[in-house]
Amino acid sequence: MTGAPTEGAPPEGGASSRLRCSDPGCGTWLGRAEGVYSCPRCGQLAELVLEMDPEAARTWPARWRERVPGRDAAGRSGVWRFSELLPPTPPRVTPVTLGEGGTPLVELPQLAEELQLGSLAVKHLGVNPTGSFKDLGMTVCVTEARALGREVVACASTGNTSASMAAYAARAGLRALVLVPEGQVSAAKLAQALDFGAMVVQAGDTFDRAFTILRQLAARLNLYLVNSINPFRLEGQKTAVVELLEQLDWRPPDFLILPGGNLGNVSALGKGIGELAEAGLLAELPRLGVVQAEGASPFHRMWSSGAEELVPEDHPETRATAIRIGKPANWPRALRALSRTRGVTAAVSDSEIEMAKRRLAELGVGCEPASAASLAGLRRLRRTGEVPEGARVVLVLTGHQLKDTAYVEEHLAGRPGIRRAEPSLEGVERSLRGWL
Ligand code: F0G
Repeated sequence: MTGAPTEGAPPEGGASSRLRCSDPGCGTWLGRAEGVYSCPRCGQLAELVLEMDPEAARTWPARWRERVPGRDAAGRSGVWRFSELLPPTPPRVTPVTLGEGGTPLVELPQLAEELQLGSLAVKHLGVNPTGSFKDLGMTVCVTEARALGREVVACASTGNTSASMAAYAARAGLRALVLVPEGQVSAAKLAQALDFGAMVVQAGDTFDRAFTILRQLAARLNLYLVNSINPFRLEGQKTAVVELLEQLDWRPPDFLILPGGNLGNVSALGKGIGELAEAGLLAELPRLGVVQAEGASPFHRMWSSGAEELVPEDHPETRATAIRIGKPANWPRALRALSRTRGVTAAVSDSEIEMAKRRLAELGVGCEPASAASLAGLRRLRRTGEVPEGARVVLVLTGHQLKDTAYVEEHLAGRPGIRRAEPSLEGVERSLRGWL
């Protein structure tokens, strides 16, 4: 503990926030200065609870509109632009930002027609500084590490969290420790963490194992954990839904569908939806849809069977390595988010993911395999009728196309691909025979 204040005042009319146990049956208030992730009484995860004045909240959209990206300091970040909804930082601490957020919403009318939907768009969170949605949470979380005076940040990761953490830690002058499952993380993501100077340790062959070890290690070595069990991560990530609603002129889609791994993102989006509704900015709640890979789908199994407890998958398997997770830490709050929004789930095979990724690429939209699971899941949900004809749907794409280039090389069948040619006009022309 540094003794210095860890909290600041909210902007005028903004919400104040306090840390509390996320279990509604417990609800113990927790001290923000202690930097805790879970409730010492019941063990459930901690979360920030907002207190807002609904009258003041009605003025927020107009204020957010004025903070044009690139114009003022708060507007330069598409996350801190929504400071009325974020935990205020002490005046001496400046946000650790790389200009995250401000990501595109791309309409896909051909695909909407193909799937008989009212409309379909993708919210591409892969267009962030390190190429994934993790940056939205990391800016808030690493800023909190700085406010708490912590020196080492750490995470277990399937790749994207580590790339993001390493970048923001470098930006803040903190040291970064990464635990990854061996041989199960794309080389591009590892290269990012290494490039930003993180210490990378490979341990075990699943995220779940690495995460369990890291949680024990963090307690022993006083590491600041930035996995999605950290409540500040969710605060930043929830701004994706605020930005999306702004892009849609505050007309929510019927469904908002995203891939699920450790289930931090669906928890964050669910929290954002709940808070916007409380602020009187949402007439209807979009229904959340979580898509998992078949070989790593414990949450889908729980939800679709009506069970109340998650049974972990001990040997998660999928080529979409970002979501190769069998024991998601955030399942209780993901469950609450789905209950609150009348959510849906799906599990999809690796070949369905591959076809979905290919279809998006045909339309000029690149993403990593895990992200394409959202479209694969939508197709399933259309077949079962859980997403009805005429629905307005937004898919969340979570990671950039360049995150896993090896995947593209492995799945080139039927595409033009690379040919070798003699280095002459005739040679190159010959190599194009049959194509032109
Ligand atoms: N999509 C991508 C591209 C991811 O990297 C992840 C998670 C998810 C979806 C799932 O999000 O865990 O919030 O349900 N990646 C983590 C990581 C686990 O370490 O990068 P979630």
